[in-house]
Amino acid sequence: MKVTIVGAGNVGATCADVISYRGIASEVVLLDIKEGFAEGKAMDISQCATTTGFNTRVVGSTNDYTKTAGSDVVVITSGIPRKPGMTREELIGINAGIVKGVAENVLKHSPDAIIVVVSNPMDTMTYLTLKATGLPKNRIIGMGGALDSSRFKYYLSKALNKPSNDVDGMVIGGHGDTTMIPLTRLASYCGTPVSTYLSQEEMDKVAADTMVGGATLTGLLGTSAWYAPGASVAYLVDSILNDQRKMIPCSVLLEGEYGQNDICLGVPCIIGKNGIESIVDVKLNDAEKALFAKSADAVRAMNGDLKSVLV
Ligand SMILES: NC(=O)c1ccc[n+]([C@@H]2O[C@H](COP(=O)([O-])OP(=O)(O)OC[C@H]3O[C@@H](n4cnc5c(N)ncnc54)[C@H](O)[C@@H]3O)[C@@H](O)[C@H]2O)c1
Repeated sequence: MKVTIVGAGNVGATCADVISYRGIASEVVLLDIKEGFAEGKAMDISQCATTTGFNTRVVGSTNDYTKTAGSDVVVITSGIPRKPGMTREELIGINAGIVKGVAENVLKHSPDAIIVVVSNPMDTMTYLTLKATGLPKNRIIGMGGALDSSRFKYYLSKALNKPSNDVDGMVIGGHGDTTMIPLTRLASYCGTPVSTYLSQEEMDKVAADTMVGGATLTGLLGTSAWYAPGASVAYLVDSILNDQRKMIPCSVLLEGEYGQNDICLGVPCIIGKNGIESIVDVKLNDAEKALFAKSADAVRAMNGDLKSVLV
């Protein structure tokens, strides 16, 4: 089983590291446009093999897509961060050009691959990849909900003062500070509702902390985070390659589900060997439905900035 990761930066390299360390794939190709960068990262990760005990072959490539041939899954993390003075539209234009070009290149060599989109703004980049490639919706998956949900569970565990792995919860909607929807009403601790233990005020704080979880880390690190994002991508890739059929919130094309059409947005999906195996219809209450519609409006407005790239 072969995975290509385009963009050997912080998130891409961490993802390659986790996939190798956990033996999720037999081969990982890291590709980057920066001369020698992916080769260096691949060599560094490979040199962990004997001390951490893995057998995954990790290969680096400077923009040579022939090395990616026959990949089962391709992860796209390539892109640039927003620079001072750059408008959102300019950022979208640049990253859209990168993501579109990368998707076209990888498909030349891996026509059957499932594509996982990570580059931001992720929901818009997922929509772009879908439109630009014309692939069926099950093969284009946006990763954001897995990360946001892990942050939600982290903040829940802190508020409950209980281990993260005893806590369950899910974040749906857009992958952005103001568009994501932590489903506090459905969150649980060992099968019991968290509302048993936390006040409404405490639950609201957990939701608010989750929504700015990425920004909090950017403030601390000076750049966006990579350990949890990389691990979240690896978790998703594992469910695809090993047909685990895990339920993971992912950005996927909606065709009537959750009352939306022609938009990629985070909803719970069953993830297996065909990518998106199905979308799970979780019954939202009226307040959650209103938040989902508002989130869709914001992402749809951003998708409007793709017009020049999609012509
Ligand atoms: N969806 C999520 O949950 C999530 C989480 C974290 C980060 N992100 C996003 O993921 C992306 C990567 O983040 P990062 O921290 O790894 O950034 P980074 O700057 O460390 O890495 C990006 C890499 O992409 C490479 N690149 C740029 N253009 C390329 C091209 N045309 N072909 C190949 N490689 C190219 C760069 O050389 C760089 O090494 C960003 O857009 C970031 O906002 C998304």
